[in-house]
Amino acid sequence: MLVLTGIGTLVTNDVTLERGKLGVINNAALVVGDDNKVALACEAVNLPRELRTNAVDIGGRAVIPGFVDSHTHLVFGGDRALEFEARMSGKPYTAGGIRTTMSATRGASNDTLAENARRLANEALHTGTTTLETKSGYGLSVLDESRSLQVAASITSETTFLGAHVVPPDSQIDDYVNLVCGEMLAQCAASAKWIDVFCDRGAFEVDHARAILSAGAKAGLGMRIHANQLQHGGGVQLGVELGVASCDHCTHLNDADVSALADSNGSTVATLLPTAELCTRSQFPDARRLIDAGVTVALASDCNPGSSYTTSMPLVISLAVLNMNMTCEEAVWSATAGGAAALRRHDIGTLRIGANADFSVLNTPSYIHLAYRPGVKLVDAVFRLGGCVAGSLL
Ligand code: NIG
Ligand code: FE
Repeated sequence: MLVLTGIGTLVTNDVTLERGKLGVINNAALVVGDDNKVALACEAVNLPRELRTNAVDIGGRAVIPGFVDSHTHLVFGGDRALEFEARMSGKPYTAGGIRTTMSATRGASNDTLAENARRLANEALHTGTTTLETKSGYGLSVLDESRSLQVAASITSETTFLGAHVVPPDSQIDDYVNLVCGEMLAQCAASAKWIDVFCDRGAFEVDHARAILSAGAKAGLGMRIHANQLQHGGGVQLGVELGVASCDHCTHLNDADVSALADSNGSTVATLLPTAELCTRSQFPDARRLIDAGVTVALASDCNPGSSYTTSMPLVISLAVLNMNMTCEEAVWSATAGGAAALRRHDIGTLRIGANADFSVLNTPSYIHLAYRPGVKLVDAVFRLGGCVAGSLL
C-alpha cells in the first residue's frame, strides 16, 4: 500500500466528485491499494488515522493522472532532420516523406527498431506518459508491417496496424489496398488491437479508407483514422459513419464534420495533434469550435520522424492552451481522460477509486503550470500501477 499526503492539487478526473471537469481535490491524499489501483482520493484531513503512519508527505506538489498519448508512430528507422531543415527553409510538408522513413525502416533490424521505439517510449514516460498507443506504417510490405507490429507490441498493448499510411513506391493503389485488406491484415491482425488509415492528400481516398477499415473491423480490430490533416476531405465523416474510436488531426473541418463528431455523443473522439501543426508550420486545429459543439477532444503527440518528432505531452498541453484557445482544465483533461476515451479505456486517464494507479507528481503546486511554464521539466516522479517508474519523490 502507498499513501501520499501533502498533495497541493490532486486531479482525479472523477466527475462524480462534483468538483469540476478535473475533479480537483486541494490539500489531498491519495491511497494505492495492494491491487495497484486507486483505493482512496480525498482531502488529507479525511484520511483515516490508521493510514497516516506510513504516509509520504509530498510537500504541496500537484498530482495528475498519467498522460494517455493515444497517437504515436514510434516504430521507424532513421530520422528526417534534413527534411525538417528544408521545411524550415520554406519547403512544404507532404505525405511523401513517409517513403523516406519506409526505406530506413526496411533496412533496420528488429533489434534496432525495438531499441529506438523503447528509447522514445522511455522519453515519453519521463515527461509523464504512462500509456501510449503506437502504430506500424513505415514498413509498407507484409514482412515489414508485421515485424513493425511485433516491435510495437513489445512496448504497449495499444498497437495499431497502419499498413495504409501511403502507397509504397512501385505499387499501384488498387493492388496495394487489396494487399493491405488481404495478406497484410492477415499477418498483422494478431499483433494489432486497432486498424488506421491515412485518409488525406497524397495518401488514401475515402473509398479505399472505407474498404480498409471495414476489413480490419471484420478481422476483429477497433478502428481509428488519420483525417483532414492536410486538406478538407471526407475522412472525418467516414470515421463517424463507421463508428471509429477516434478521428485524428481534424485540422480542416467544415460545419458538417463538426456536427457529425458532436452527434456521435463522444463515441468518436476528435484527437488533436498540435505538435504536428507546430513542426509543419501549419494552422492549428480549432479546438474551441469542437468543444463548444460538444465534441469529445483528446490531445496526443503524434510522435513520428516526419511531422512531429516529440514525445512531450506537456508541450502539447502548452500549445493547446496558448495557441488553440483551450483552457488549462480542458487541455489537461484531453491529455489524460480524453486520450483514454480515444482508446475506449475506462481504467486509465483518471484517479477515481478503482482506476489504475498511474500518475505523475509535478514539481509545481498546480496542473496550470503545465501550460504556464512551456518547455520546462515539471514532472518529478511517474508512477505506473502504484510503482515509481521514472524520477523520484525526493
Ligand atoms: O500523423 N499523417 C500521417 N502520418 C504522420 C506523419 C508521418 C510522417 O511524415 O512520417 C502524422 O502526421
Ligand atoms: Fe499520425
